[in-house]
Amino acid sequence: MKVIKEPIAIQDIANYYRISGRSIGFVPTMGFLHEGHTSLIENARNDCDLVVVSIFVNPTQFSPDEDFSKYPRDFLRDYELCNRAGTDYIFYPEPEDMYPPGNSAEVILKGISGKLEGKYRPGHFTGVATVVLKLFNIIKPHKAYFGQKDAQQAIVIKKMVKDLNVDSEILICETTREINGLAKSSRNIYLSDSEKDEASILFKTLLAGKEMIIEKEVLSGSELEKKLAKMIETNSPNSKLQYLAVTDNDNLDPVENLEDFKGELLISLACFYGKTRLIDNIVVRL
Ligand code: PAJ
Repeated sequence: MKVIKEPIAIQDIANYYRISGRSIGFVPTMGFLHEGHTSLIENARNDCDLVVVSIFVNPTQFSPDEDFSKYPRDFLRDYELCNRAGTDYIFYPEPEDMYPPGNSAEVILKGISGKLEGKYRPGHFTGVATVVLKLFNIIKPHKAYFGQKDAQQAIVIKKMVKDLNVDSEILICETTREINGLAKSSRNIYLSDSEKDEASILFKTLLAGKEMIIEKEVLSGSELEKKLAKMIETNSPNSKLQYLAVTDNDNLDPVENLEDFKGELLISLACFYGKTRLIDNIVVRL
């Protein structure tokens, strides 16, 4: 496994692989890797000839009041995890390599970027789409792997690829969880043991929501939102739910009539424990 810092250097390697007809699998990350990330790397390893993982805490997707400077970093540990999961190259640029002075291009996905997460994190998805398109232009992946854990990010990236004719296939992989159901996240290290226990209610609530829909116990999206919010509030006194939404899984529009809905429904949420913001979701196929 090699570590490359220069965009031009990895671009040359990627060009060589593309020209010689070998497939490139790519897993973009912000590092501080866990089993969620390594499951994406293992999928890429199974599917592709070359596996590239990027580790880059992207400043443009954090707003000034968020945790960019405090975002956890541990390159040596990440190096080991990448190596064990079958990575060939780690792309590990510095912010100045990705955003040299004068850089001003942005990828804006109108509409979708302002919904759900975007309402509470203005500019976040512009930062994500911009850095991912730059990474795609550098690594030129045939296949790129993203986690369902970040449901809206997955939708935004798929839409960007479609709208801008990017020549990469996007694969969305299942959320990896702790035994108690809590979605693995780099930010979980900020949680105390008791908060981790309490936060397991989030996935339990999502599962209960799915069950209520399938069993037709609740027929209205807004009623389901209220019931599930109440369930979190009651069972987890230290939680501060920011939103819980029942939407379709394409445009993230609210779904009110659950009885007649056909397709993929998404129940998604963001919840604070102290200063730590957790997100999770579940897809219900109807
Ligand atoms: P990061 O939060 O490091 O996540 C990198 C990838 O791992 C994303 O596709 C994310 O959805 C996936 N992932 C995170 N936790 C997961 C889990 N528990 N199970 C499965 N997959 C999981 O997402 C980002 O970085 C950034 O926004 C990025 C796309 C790299 C752009 O900067």
